[in-house]
Amino acid sequence: MVKNKKLTMEQFLETRKEILNHWPTGNHPDLDLDKAVEKLKKIPPHKNFALKLREAKKNNITMIQPRAGVARLQEHIELLQYLEKEGKADFLPSTIDSYTRHNRYQNAQDGIDESEKKGRSLLNGFPCVNHGVDGCTEVFEKINVPIQARHGTPDARLLSEIIHASGWTSNEGGGISYNIPYAKSISLEDTIKYWQYCDRLVGYYQEQGVELNREPFGPLTGTLCPPSISNTVAILESLMAAEQGVKNITVGYGQGGNMVQDVAALRALEEQTNHYLKLFGYEDVFVTTVFHQWMGGFPSDESEAMALIAYASTVATYGGATKMITKTTHESFGVPTKEANAKALKASKFVTNLVKEQKMPDSEELTFEIEQIKKEVDSLIKSIVHEGKGDICQGTILGFKKGLIDIPFAPSELNYGKILPARDVDGKIRILEFGNLGFTEEIKDFHRTKLNERAKSQNRELTIQMVIDDIYAVSNGNLVGSEGE
Ligand code: 5AD
Repeated sequence: MVKNKKLTMEQFLETRKEILNHWPTGNHPDLDLDKAVEKLKKIPPHKNFALKLREAKKNNITMIQPRAGVARLQEHIELLQYLEKEGKADFLPSTIDSYTRHNRYQNAQDGIDESEKKGRSLLNGFPCVNHGVDGCTEVFEKINVPIQARHGTPDARLLSEIIHASGWTSNEGGGISYNIPYAKSISLEDTIKYWQYCDRLVGYYQEQGVELNREPFGPLTGTLCPPSISNTVAILESLMAAEQGVKNITVGYGQGGNMVQDVAALRALEEQTNHYLKLFGYEDVFVTTVFHQWMGGFPSDESEAMALIAYASTVATYGGATKMITKTTHESFGVPTKEANAKALKASKFVTNLVKEQKMPDSEELTFEIEQIKKEVDSLIKSIVHEGKGDICQGTILGFKKGLIDIPFAPSELNYGKILPARDVDGKIRILEFGNLGFTEEIKDFHRTKLNERAKSQNRELTIQMVIDDIYAVSNGNLVGSEGE
């Protein structure tokens, strides 16, 4: 039974042996931890994700990072170099392909081979495990900013070993956020265990004096996710990471659409992550935030898409996010070209720079929303801790089973799947159906009142049709859906 308990060095090394013995690619590389530590120690601060984030936070600026990944090594390197130069990316990613995310390394290899034959990428990302430590190290060496793996992998243990040993100083994911929104029927017990290992590896490096960054995946399904739900998952994963020795954490949030609610969510997220880390006894964890540009359906028109990207950039900067993940005008078609990717980065950077002196001023509305989100998160975490009899791992597993925590529109069978979100009059995301969510009656009443106001103002019934209209609204240029949109 998985508990929120740091893996001992023996447990860690034993599992490590098993993972490395199942090396899929034939050429078992030298994954010596001491050598990896030596290599990581030599990385200059401007190429270390954790240290560059500390610097950005100190200077109060919003850094930008795209998503990007292709099958072939040289093409991937050229892509990242292009995004660094043309797009002025502050951080670079390697978006990992779907086969690797599901540990299907033979399929990934076939994809690489086919891509070589055809002269273009036939995978939807960079197969980092197949390219191995040598390939990933070459990627790291040929760029001048920090690099992170971004994926969606329930079992990322081998992937994590490879990327960190290659000088990649950040890893995205978590036992909840890379399971429930990504997989159909993988047990949470397992994914929490897998991610404890990934975090313990980072904890190991930390003990050797190398600070690496970890980033729980914030937006979850990216569709009308109430801030208190995504913030709760981010906090739970931060606590799990901190227990394994992680000291540099970036908690994420996906743009909801209402500016005040989005800024409130970012502020609440940072404050409560720090609060709960201290409450659970993790004193010296450095926390930053990442804002995801709109993760829902995008307009297909490129000018409209760019406008949405610029709006998101305004909110991220106005809300004081340390980092922002950018989208592209190709979002509604598929994987973007490098040109489209760089153009969106440039537009994003232009806005973050333009807005950088301004922060959203305090107001009654903002204060209210921050307090509301905090109240909801407290209620959810309390119910989870109670369910787990003090253990957040067991609390999470049982909480999902009972629906105390429930992620809207998640594909996982482990998700209770009963809650339904909808927007209120001014576009803030509220909850229409609560399922068995761990909310107090007071909180539920607040949501009911807000959505009744909306129904009244639009002269319509509070039904699932409202939810559907809201899902499609933004791609049509509205925040609040109207009937039959
Ligand atoms: N390159 C660029 N963007 C990608 N995305 C997924 N794979 C890639 C890739 N290889 C983007 C999708 C979506 C987000 C979840 O990730 O377009 O915006």
